[in-house]
Amino acid sequence: PGKSTEIRPFGPDVIAEAARLVSAGLPVAVPTETVYGLAADATNAEAVARIYEAKGRPSFNPLIVHVPDLAAAKRLGRFDAAAEALAAAHWPGPLTLVVPLAEGHGIASLVTAGLPTIAIRVPAHPAMRALLEASGRPLAAPSANASGRISPTRATHVLASLDGRIALVIDGGATAHGLESTIVAATDGTLRLLRPGPIAVAGAVPATKGIEAPGMMESHYAPSRPLRLDATSAAPDEWLIGFGPVGGDDSLSPSGDLVEAAARLFDSLHRADAAGRDKIAVAPIPRDGLGLAINDRLARAAAPRP
Ligand code: TXA
Ligand code: MG
Repeated sequence: PGKSTEIRPFGPDVIAEAARLVSAGLPVAVPTETVYGLAADATNAEAVARIYEAKGRPSFNPLIVHVPDLAAAKRLGRFDAAAEALAAAHWPGPLTLVVPLAEGHGIASLVTAGLPTIAIRVPAHPAMRALLEASGRPLAAPSANASGRISPTRATHVLASLDGRIALVIDGGATAHGLESTIVAATDGTLRLLRPGPIAVAGAVPATKGIEAPGMMESHYAPSRPLRLDATSAAPDEWLIGFGPVGGDDSLSPSGDLVEAAARLFDSLHRADAAGRDKIAVAPIPRDGLGLAINDRLARAAAPRP
């Protein structure tokens, strides 16, 4: 906040600059054929945390990872025959496939919100394709708008809610579809429609609301052990996740940096679950900026399980 946002027309120079920013761990707004995305290196947890910071998202929803082709997609996710057929028919294009994560995927757990699945898309827009090639990284990208605001279909829409919060907007004019991609899950031998969009997928059954619909945080990873919030010290049977002055067994950020804490959150929860103590306690996290999203996720992790 407070910095100025550059808006530059799509071309080779701006792609080189955008790739430099991505390598430095910063998010960049880039047009796709659906809506403008706010893209960052999906293998860099702190870069992904900066997406949430810029959007002011109050919770960590899993993000779509953009890759150049099906071969790159297969390094991140496992495609069954139905998923592969959809990819062959519609990629590059406005279709996102949710598939099980592959071994050795390298994607930051903040991108998948700790889920065992990943949403992947091969975009068609030349600007996003050029940035994928120039950065050489899978790019996590939600729509480039502040949380709760309308999805951007023009560069000026991005500025309307993110001006001063990001370094660069690549201007590619109005997007072709103006509507987010269709999302289909292929995780269990069936095809489920998670979000309707520009592509109609025959044979995809609408997802049952409350079970797998996008953004339904109940379906997200929660530790198997009870979790206590705002703990300044641990009982003998508790594994303490620290922050700032509370060291704990494993700190989200010894210096109290919320970007670092967000980047480490899901990995820390996995480690705490595996640590062998009966319960988990978490140090107080300030309830401002990214701390709101961290506390939202922790509150859900601490809520009674179904
Ligand atoms: O057209 C689009 O898809 C745009 C452009 C930029 O690619 N992106 C976009 O991202 O709409 P976003 O973050 O606004 O929406 C991502 C959706 C969310 O509803 C999220 O819940 C869902 O994808 N999602 C991501 N990973 C998932 C997963 N593993 N399982 C279920 N849903 C997932
Ligand atoms: Mg969105």
